[in-house]
Amino acid sequence: MNRELADMRRVYKANDLAEANAGPCPFALFNRWMAEAAKTETLDPNAMTLATVDAAGQPKARIVLLKGFSKELGWVFYTNYTSDKGEELKNNPRCSLLFWWELLERQVRVEGYVQKLSEEESDHYYTSRPRESQLGAWVSEQSQVITGREALNEREAIITEQYAGIDILPRPPHWGGYQVIPTSIEFWQGQPSRLHDRLRFKLNTEDQQWTRERLSP
Ligand SMILES: Cc1cc2nc3c(=O)[nH]c(=O)nc-3n(C[C@H](O)[C@H](O)[C@H](O)COP(=O)(O)O)c2cc1C
Repeated sequence: MNRELADMRRVYKANDLAEANAGPCPFALFNRWMAEAAKTETLDPNAMTLATVDAAGQPKARIVLLKGFSKELGWVFYTNYTSDKGEELKNNPRCSLLFWWELLERQVRVEGYVQKLSEEESDHYYTSRPRESQLGAWVSEQSQVITGREALNEREAIITEQYAGIDILPRPPHWGGYQVIPTSIEFWQGQPSRLHDRLRFKLNTEDQQWTRERLSP
């Protein structure tokens, strides 16, 4: 390694996050930050870490891509419902999302729970994907142990043959979207001297209003 871990650090100073700029609505603020990340960040500004909890209480994290966002739907991603994450979310729908946009020096943490997206929305997104991705959803028994790469290649050949001549594949029943419905959303903006800005929005379940509070870094 040409840089020692202990010496890897930098001063965060790209932006700040004042209450006046943040405004009262976390959805509007996320929309703004996501749009800025789409302009400034490199290859995958919509990559987010999804954390779930398994039946033994073990937290599990992996990256998925954000494929839709609105106040009504929340954060939308697509996956295999029978994957490890799918099983974990079936048993415990609580989850957490994390975005890190390094050039903007921003982190967003979302806590909440998932609901399956409607069949129509999943169909709509599935048919919009490139054909190879549509095939991939049929080929991969996501999270299952397989004997080797050859097993995957063989399955790909069989499925490709099966759907030869069919332009738009049917969506596999085990594949679709989830929407993450938030209960807490925290915006973190890096600042010098490690005195970062942190604003957290929490949902009051009684009146469904969001309150904003500043956290110590
Ligand atoms: C940049 C990136 C994007 C990814 N996007 C997705 C995605 O949108 N959906 C998905 O199921 N897996 C995606 N993956 C793969 C997951 O990280 C993970 O390996 C897979 O979903 C299996 O997770 P599980 O075994 O915990 O269910 C992505 C991985 C990376 C690195």
